[in-house]
Amino acid sequence: MSKKIFIANWKMQLSPAEALKTAKDFVRVFKNFKGTAVVCPDFLSLSGVAKIFKKSPLLLGAQDVAAFERGAYTGEISALDLAAYNTKYVLIGHSERRSYLQENDKLLAAKIRMALSQKIKPVLCVGENAAENKQGKEASVIKTQLKGALNYLSDNGVRSLLIAYEPIWAIGTGLHCHPDKALKVKNTIQDLCKRAGLKKTPILYGGSVTADNAADFLVPGGFDGLLIGGASLKADSFKNIVKL
Ligand code: PGA
Repeated sequence: MSKKIFIANWKMQLSPAEALKTAKDFVRVFKNFKGTAVVCPDFLSLSGVAKIFKKSPLLLGAQDVAAFERGAYTGEISALDLAAYNTKYVLIGHSERRSYLQENDKLLAAKIRMALSQKIKPVLCVGENAAENKQGKEASVIKTQLKGALNYLSDNGVRSLLIAYEPIWAIGTGLHCHPDKALKVKNTIQDLCKRAGLKKTPILYGGSVTADNAADFLVPGGFDGLLIGGASLKADSFKNIVKL
């Protein structure tokens, strides 16, 4: 049985009707699955997908969470409610949210705190843009992105964070990061986590993952899992990555 973690990020790509249909396809294909496969639908589809996943080995994830528990926060979704629908993972600080919605490190640390308060595993996304990559600045960019969250976690004795390395230029472009280069970044992340007192932090790769390149990131000593966007929108293509 694979110990790797596979997370499907459906973003805002499917209508609720399409999401429910796709969720049913996933349940059929993953019927006897024994590993960790997580699906993050949009919020409108989340409760319907939760029902469909009830007796399946598939786990539910969310694409975001509010930084506050409850109150006058128009448009936000509470970790309390995600937990009530059996949400087990939540993406925090996806680059699309960092860039389009100006999410900053302080806010992301608060979201991590909220997720953990409800025993939902936060998956903190980090990654450099194309210009930073060209200048070889990926390590310093990632250091900065991780700093706020890691300080919070080590101050509070938290151990249950996941990190997804997703170079922005690789997301949705068909240009995945060369696995050797990605693994160097993974080692940097691992060192930073160790220095912050975190012992076991699963580190995932994301960015144009397909069935053709997935195995290159999952070699021994490689990544602990994958975060998959485009190739996770169909049960069969996700299955080919997970290699059922
Ligand atoms: P992609 O998206 O697999 O379509 O590149 C990954 C992500 O944004 O999580």
